[in-house]
Amino acid sequence: MEKKTLITAEAEMQIPVTEPERQYYFIEKAKENLAKLMEQEKRSFTFCVTTFGCQMNARDSEKLVGILEQIGYVEEPDEEKADFVIYNTCTVRENANQRVYGRLGQLGRIKKKNPHMMIALCGCMMQEPEVVEKLKKSYRFVDLIFGTHNIYKFAELIVSRMNSGKMVIDIWKDTDKIVEDLPSERKYPFKSGVNIMFGCNNFCSYCIVPYVRGRERSRDPKAIIREIERLAEDGVVEVMLLGQNVNSYGKTLEHPMSFAQLLQEIEKIDKIERIRFMTSHPKDLSDELIEVMAQSKKICRHLHLPVQSGSTRILEKMNRRYTKEHYLGLVEKIRTAIPDISLTTDIIVGFPGETEEDFQETLDVVRKVEYDSAFTFIYSKRTGTPAAVMEGQIPDEVVKDRFGRLLEEVQTISARMCAKHEGTVQRVLVESHNEHDERLMTGRLSNNLLVHFPGDESMIGKFADVRLDECKGFYYIGKIVEK
Ligand code: SAH
Ligand code: SF4
Ligand code: F3S
Repeated sequence: MEKKTLITAEAEMQIPVTEPERQYYFIEKAKENLAKLMEQEKRSFTFCVTTFGCQMNARDSEKLVGILEQIGYVEEPDEEKADFVIYNTCTVRENANQRVYGRLGQLGRIKKKNPHMMIALCGCMMQEPEVVEKLKKSYRFVDLIFGTHNIYKFAELIVSRMNSGKMVIDIWKDTDKIVEDLPSERKYPFKSGVNIMFGCNNFCSYCIVPYVRGRERSRDPKAIIREIERLAEDGVVEVMLLGQNVNSYGKTLEHPMSFAQLLQEIEKIDKIERIRFMTSHPKDLSDELIEVMAQSKKICRHLHLPVQSGSTRILEKMNRRYTKEHYLGLVEKIRTAIPDISLTTDIIVGFPGETEEDFQETLDVVRKVEYDSAFTFIYSKRTGTPAAVMEGQIPDEVVKDRFGRLLEEVQTISARMCAKHEGTVQRVLVESHNEHDERLMTGRLSNNLLVHFPGDESMIGKFADVRLDECKGFYYIGKIVEK
């Protein structure tokens, strides 16, 4: 017994304590384990990662895929056939959780037929203690559960599961740690998301994100620049900078730096041709940023500026820390400085206490701003947030009626905004084949709209000049023009 402990201790001494070296060590260990299994079964082993939620999660999933591929797993798009199924979950709205439980039940039945199958759950939903309790009780077949703060430890957790044969659960409440230089696999060769900050400190009263993503922390600008330079060397021409509130980037750094300054540094990277970012919080959007955007040749003509509600009274209850007038003033400033900017937004309908007058204020903002598009959400009660216990929760039929009216207004306006560009020639980045028609390619305009035009696969990842012949409401049909 004593001897065994000694050997374990000795083996443990070889495990690096610093990151990312420690994770590269575990990637090697997992690789050895998997190689044995493949040898034994005489076949390759596959994985399928399903991502729910926002672009933060999409980027996290690319990190998971990077680690899985280094270990030696091969991607399998059909989760029913995969040996390792990973759900990267979202919990921003109630129905997001229900969907995960539903799909998980189905996975459990499939797992019974494949003794080697592993199931991992991670992401925002796992940061909620009730969720983990429920999984522990009713979904015993899940192999691995981890949260948003320790995603970088994926390889270590896999090894721990492989060696113990038991359900492994590792959830951290919060972290101040940012681990750099881990592998990551990009979904597109020519564009990539880049995290510039993690977490959120805003505590909008309806929102669960600050509880599941922890406190706001900005990445070191040097690490961001290094990552983007590497991406550029690797053929990436467009980056999307990601953060819950990019306008407060850099405030907590040892040497504070503004988001606008960071953008200027990124602009200097040669092969990067397009820079996008999200999300901007109206309360922190600076004049400096507007100026930098106006002068930039690379920052895209698109700003996602969630308004959430048009009523100052509701905005206050939402803890958004701006008024309707401030928001409209900001929009005017932006439009004056950058006339061709496309503005998009998020709107919540049916927040507790919302009256018909409040809702009319929202419609008024929609009409005044003329959004190019808007994501509209029905308010969802998230246990643990202040709004969940507010008085005046709105009956379903009232919310549905308002939602319908809002959607109609938003759609009419976006069709009108889209039609404005009909007939113009725009530079687009060709992204993919059209999903419905193989002969068509799909390209993205600087303002984030899509155009479908005849072309072939060789164009993917390249820029092209396309005439927008016909506006179809929220996209275009066009033709390449030679310049
Ligand atoms: N950080 C971003 C938003 C992240 S969540 C921002 O501040 O804009 C994306 C969107 O989900 C939010 O903008 C909001 O419109 C919506 N949302 C968040 N919590 C919600 C809830 N409880 N019910 C309905 N929609 C919600
Ligand atoms: Fe949620 Fe508000 Fe933070 Fe956005 S800024 S993630 S809506 S708390
Ligand atoms: Fe959802 Fe988490 Fe994003 S809750 S919206 S995946 S930060």
